[in-house]
Amino acid sequence: METKGRILTGHRPTGPRHIGHLVGTLENWVRLQDSFECYFLIADLHVLTTDFEHPERIGGNVIEVLADWLAVGIDPQRARIVLQSAIPGHAELSLLLGMLVTVARLTRVPAYKEQAQALHIRPSLGLLSYPVLQSADILLYMADTVPVGEDQLPHLELSRELARRFNQLYAPTFPEPQGLLSTTPRLIGTDNRTMHTSYGNTIALRDTPEETTLKVMNMYTDPTRIHANDPGHVEGNPVFEYHDAFNPNKEEVEEYKLRYRNGKIGDVELKRRLAHVINEYLMPIRQRRAEIIARPSDLMDILQAGTQAARPVAQATMETVKTKIGLNPAIQVS
Ligand code: TRP
Repeated sequence: METKGRILTGHRPTGPRHIGHLVGTLENWVRLQDSFECYFLIADLHVLTTDFEHPERIGGNVIEVLADWLAVGIDPQRARIVLQSAIPGHAELSLLLGMLVTVARLTRVPAYKEQAQALHIRPSLGLLSYPVLQSADILLYMADTVPVGEDQLPHLELSRELARRFNQLYAPTFPEPQGLLSTTPRLIGTDNRTMHTSYGNTIALRDTPEETTLKVMNMYTDPTRIHANDPGHVEGNPVFEYHDAFNPNKEEVEEYKLRYRNGKIGDVELKRRLAHVINEYLMPIRQRRAEIIARPSDLMDILQAGTQAARPVAQATMETVKTKIGLNPAIQVS
């Protein structure tokens, strides 16, 4: 296949995927499979940077994420789905890249600063080197393109620095990976806060239609509006943001907005319609997901096959890297 280049991107298996992942990243990944050689990484080692005291959920979450990816159209015939912890090169390259960056540089990474403040414990070396491991993920497969959300750009900047540093110091080896930003804005949570599984403000792909309807009926809406005939605010209102994202009938959405602004439609009617359109949107995904999750051994085979296919690529990079650094070239054993 003639492609535009090689993609590596991934998710941490923190739980089932939700509609924010769907419109923010997954739909984009599905499209990119047509024109890029894709590696999609389930980054289970990254979960340990914060959840090392509770690793027991990771295994189950790997399966959840995998089932969701397949249900939305990630195609294991074309893309390689890779389990990070099953390929030693991720950790090994991370160690070597760690020599090329200062501690001071890593403490300035925004996500690190935020997490170090939010955690109730003192940050570990593993957390500090989170973006180094992420850089290893990308460079291990010589990926040149990394589709990510805006929040990941500082991490990608470090990956580019590390690639440059390695290339300068030893020999030209790695492409400088480019970020590919998704054009769809981030979906807000049902409670108008940032969408986060831990806030309980998401709609999971695997939720039932009934659960979805309940969540939609309880959604945050214009708080200044007391009666259905008060004029309402459309901008910054999650109910309209979701109609824009999921309602295929754009004329209907425009009409709702007009009526809302003029106090001519109630929140209940809007939300009932929204629950319906979201459930319609998710129906084929949920059907596929139910079929997929009923065959756990197929899931394991898919993860195994993707990881097996990635392994020689990772090994080749590690051999190149070690040779260029000058590590024990004479006693490399296969
Ligand atoms: N840090 C990413 C996230 O939380 C997940 C991730 C791990 C990743 N390795 C990656 C993303 C490599 C892109 C490339 O979403």
